[in-house]
Amino acid sequence: MKKINIAIDGYSACGKSSTAKIVASRLEYKYIDSGAMYRAVTLYFIDNYVDLTNDKKVDQALENINIDFRFNSKKEKSETYLNGLNVEDEIRTMKVTNMVSEVSALPKVRKVLVELQQKLGKKKGVVMDGRDIGSVVLPDAELKVFMTADKRVRALRRQQELLEKEQLVDLDEIIENLTKRDNIDTSREVGPLIKVDEAIEIDTTHITLEEQVEEILNEATSRMVENQ
Ligand code: CDP
Ligand code: CDP
Repeated sequence: MKKINIAIDGYSACGKSSTAKIVASRLEYKYIDSGAMYRAVTLYFIDNYVDLTNDKKVDQALENINIDFRFNSKKEKSETYLNGLNVEDEIRTMKVTNMVSEVSALPKVRKVLVELQQKLGKKKGVVMDGRDIGSVVLPDAELKVFMTADKRVRALRRQQELLEKEQLVDLDEIIENLTKRDNIDTSREVGPLIKVDEAIEIDTTHITLEEQVEEILNEATSRMVENQ
């Protein structure tokens, strides 16, 4: 069957990346984590003290950033590299999480990363998750999903994930971070998080990961048939 592209957008910690990874593996498609790219740029900006209000410094920094994904066969997952260094764990720390939405709101940053993401999605057979995938990055994606979930449930899930990585973070701090990021991500001028009309909405509050995977796989199969 002809390959399609699947765009998964939504708020933080609704289950986008966990779902996207499984869907991609079942379809033997490529999974692309666009958030990891924004996180890697943010890490570079923090480590190099880049002043976000200084256009020249932002341009210079972007020229010096090279992001790629490499498969770790031991862990059986793809990991994010920034200028040749494995930053997969560091980009998920609160240091980066607390800054990422400010960096992602910069139009210059979005321009560079959207171009890179569009290149990766060109050949079809891609499942990409983020905030602007259905609206900006892959507007022609055959299947678009918009994920939501109750904020407290999202915060508890994120807290559990951080705990598994031995990071103990207070629930209130996580709720505050999710609220702040949702606000910045939905209100920025370029590439805001929106639900496009054609996207199917999945509220993951009361369902299991497997249930949302099944729903997307069913939708994907019918789009593939339509696309023949
Ligand atoms: O996993 P989580 O939902 O916490 O976040 P993420 O997907 O890793 O994305 C981190 C941040 O990157 C988001 O809060 C957005 O500010 C930004 N982002 C974006 O602006 N556009 C995307 N396509 C993906 C992420
Ligand atoms: O990518 P996003 O930030 O939207 O979420 P995630 O990183 O996939 O995190 C969601 C967490 O909630 C993961 O630990 C999932 O196993 C868990 N989860 C879920 O995704 N869906 C459910 N229905 C229940 C739990």
